[in-house]
Amino acid sequence: MSKEDIRKEIEELSARINHLNHQYYQKDISEVSDYEFDMLLEKLLKLEAEHPDLKLAHSPTTRVGGTVTKNFPTVKHKHPMLSLGNTYSKEELAEFHKRVQKGLDGAPFQYFCELKFDGVALSVTYTNGVLSQAVTRGDGSKGDDITNNAKTIKTLPLKLQGSAFPQEFEARGEVFLSKTAFTQLNKKRSDAGEETYANARNTASGTLKMQDSSEVASRKLDMFLYSMTTDQSALNTHSASIDLLIELGFNVSPTFKKCSSLEEVFAYIDEWEEKRNTLPLETDGIVIKVDSFAQQEQLGFTAKSPRWAIAYKYKAESASTSLNDITYQVGRTGAITPVAELEPVFLAGTTVKRASLHNANEIARLDIRVGDTVFVEKGGEIIPKVTAINLEKRSDTSTPVKFITQCPECGSELVRHEGEAVHYCPNYGGCPPQIKGRVEHFIFRNAMDIDSLGGRTIDQLFQQDLLKTPADLYYLTYDDVFQLEGFKELSTKNLLQGIENSKQQPFENVLFALGIRFVGRTVAEKLANHFGNIDKLASAGFEELIEVPEIGERIAESLVQYFGEPQNQEEIGRLREAGLNFQIDEDKGTLESEVLEGKSFVISGVFTEFSRDELKEKIKRNGGKVVSSISAKLDYLLAGENMGPAKLAKAEKLGINMISEQDFLSMLNQ
Ligand code: IVH
Repeated sequence: MSKEDIRKEIEELSARINHLNHQYYQKDISEVSDYEFDMLLEKLLKLEAEHPDLKLAHSPTTRVGGTVTKNFPTVKHKHPMLSLGNTYSKEELAEFHKRVQKGLDGAPFQYFCELKFDGVALSVTYTNGVLSQAVTRGDGSKGDDITNNAKTIKTLPLKLQGSAFPQEFEARGEVFLSKTAFTQLNKKRSDAGEETYANARNTASGTLKMQDSSEVASRKLDMFLYSMTTDQSALNTHSASIDLLIELGFNVSPTFKKCSSLEEVFAYIDEWEEKRNTLPLETDGIVIKVDSFAQQEQLGFTAKSPRWAIAYKYKAESASTSLNDITYQVGRTGAITPVAELEPVFLAGTTVKRASLHNANEIARLDIRVGDTVFVEKGGEIIPKVTAINLEKRSDTSTPVKFITQCPECGSELVRHEGEAVHYCPNYGGCPPQIKGRVEHFIFRNAMDIDSLGGRTIDQLFQQDLLKTPADLYYLTYDDVFQLEGFKELSTKNLLQGIENSKQQPFENVLFALGIRFVGRTVAEKLANHFGNIDKLASAGFEELIEVPEIGERIAESLVQYFGEPQNQEEIGRLREAGLNFQIDEDKGTLESEVLEGKSFVISGVFTEFSRDELKEKIKRNGGKVVSSISAKLDYLLAGENMGPAKLAKAEKLGINMISEQDFLSMLNQ
């Protein structure tokens, strides 16, 4: 192949992988199997390794942040990670039961029933009571060694309780993002103007394979264990091994039950059909296992799955209803989201009236038409989705949907940037939901925290032309507020006081409140600490911005664009005039002590007692200084779990004093 051919191949592979990643994470669509995906990635990695000069700056092999990368060692499983046979009815389950009876020659036996958790299978090995390796399922016979990422799972013990453990054993379970953690993650992303993830399972899977363990830690993965294998124990039953896992401190879902008959298994199935909706994660069925290890061995395996266990899948929670209309929502950033307005239908515990249709591509893919009978499903997602159309019921007169060309709120001509699936309303300064959305963002708790102001009041102020940008809040008079419907003397004073108090918010909150695309709360804090004030930040160019640790090209571009707009400069000017903080408070709060006076620290890794932010705060409050990079001048490296190997090597080379969280706390107590 000529160099030019290779360049082309690298470009094509990168584009294809980027596309597949986007489909998988943002749309919940798997166009290829995991195996095919890994093959594509492997091919790209190989080409890039052979021709480093041709590697693209945005190569999907280097990206982190919810995207699968593939720089983990491959490990062969000691025992293959098999899958389970599925059944979809009690009749099929009764047949499984008969096969088990026959296989055991009519001997008595017991079942152990568990829920089937919809997460990502992980195998963890403990040696002398310490977590020594964590490997993904992969293709069943070999997977990725993601030990450092697994160590960030708070409920997975790094060291076991007691001493009743075999010297070496392997436990398996499902890693998941709880429904709450998934909602929080998406909220954080949408606050930062980033696309939200479509499905908790896929996000958990992608998170496990991220290269940056501190990002993994921030996502709060959890894990339920459901099996234990060892050559060195006297355990005779699966139930005894589950008891031992609990005793050793593992997180085992307390939903299991030992059953002595098929009837009891049926009762378990019925019991959990509805109740499973109250669990912290999605479940799609139950798993029925023969309890005795000797009997498991007697029954053996087929090529793919054990003969001693089976899954019973609940019917997908799907309902059929009609599509009354398609409406369009305009977000804070101007992004247009088409929404299916459905005839209300009861599904998995709630009434569903609307479902997101994501964008024009999705509408075209489904060929959905107003008046269609559609199927909606609730899977691992919070928002229900339209999965298919019942074409038999389609009316002859229906016509394909024409995506709107003008903003439903302000009438502006919509734009769609090349290569993007989403339409935008470009009327930044005049489109009502964009204006109101920016004010709503501005007053968030971790932004300006004005809780005396709500959506209804924002609406009233906007209607009366009193609120066009967040800065207008600081120029409201008593009379402006008092004359609003529902406002009396006390409520007026309250609102104005809330606005006044917000001027005390620190610079990082103000910076986050501005609503710059991709600048979430954490990024705002990093920028604030790095640049110290808004003028330095606003005048920093792209190159200078990407020098800042953890600031990528996307954020840098967005910042340059934001500060380049005269209307944003004007807004900042008015906010500054109103008295908001546009520089960091050098001596935040009073010092607790001066024990760390003149000492500099780099914080790296994941900690058990305090978060990184809390540690930073403690250093500052005791007279110390936190810096972002390791140099010969550095006094201490405060090292947690999973510190990056490069940092570690550099610190060792420079002979930096490395201290643990405990060492640090004792320093404070001197
Ligand atoms: S036991 C031989 N128990 O389902 C396989 N698996 O189709 C033994 N799963 O890869 C697995 N919840 O990821 C077992 N309570 C549970 C489970 C469970 C979910 C997953 C697991 C496995 C897949 C099998």
